[in-house]
Amino acid sequence: ELSPIDRAKFVAAKRAADMVEDGMRVGLGTGSTAAWLVRCLGEMVRDEGLKIQGVPTSTRTAALAREVGIEVVSLDQAGWLDITIDGADEFDGDLNLIKGGGGALLQEKIVATASDQMVVIADAGKEVETLGAYPLPVEVIPFGWQTTRKLIEETLVSMDVLGRSAALRMNGDAPFVTDEGNHILDLHLQRIGNPRQLALVLNQVPGVVENGLFIDICDRVVIGFGDGRVEVRD
Ligand code: A5P
Repeated sequence: ELSPIDRAKFVAAKRAADMVEDGMRVGLGTGSTAAWLVRCLGEMVRDEGLKIQGVPTSTRTAALAREVGIEVVSLDQAGWLDITIDGADEFDGDLNLIKGGGGALLQEKIVATASDQMVVIADAGKEVETLGAYPLPVEVIPFGWQTTRKLIEETLVSMDVLGRSAALRMNGDAPFVTDEGNHILDLHLQRIGNPRQLALVLNQVPGVVENGLFIDICDRVVIGFGDGRVEVRD
């Protein structure tokens, strides 16, 4: 028996899995919701003979995809993808997103952008009026990361953004390290008035590789509810 939150994630993943057709090249997201999707697709490969190639967005997802029997290829082998299905930490009414709670935002953004369509799967609790209650992850290279942090904080002040603290994400006693060997700064902003502008400005700071704002990338959100209902927004 699944808890309401897991049920919500599962039903959203299941509905999105039905959008995948034979022969498709599929971007596979990262996180607990995307893990349900990967398991659903694995079942379809095994039980229904579905033929797909999967491009994972993290080492974690790659391991799970192989485990459930999905053919895994790199993004460069696939070239272009038909669909990417991934979770999110927040989505708003324009289908803009905050992602990167799981630390995989860089590969996730590259893969989603290289897809004909990006579908987000999420439980209803991820919907927000304004992005920003969830800390915004920013991937920075380790070299000079404290200087990068200072520059980011100065940028936030100049933009008159409310919260201004950037916290280095930790993994126990050591800085968290992404699949690309970088660190993550989590920006506690509460409210992002102009996500489009913030996304552009953050990526101008030297040392910043990418940020977790996904603007105009997501085409559709499949929302799951604890009682098993599903709603699709596009
Ligand atoms: C991973 O880096 C994130 O972008 C995830 O998509 C996000 O954190 C959602 O994860 P859950 O599905 O576990 O909530």
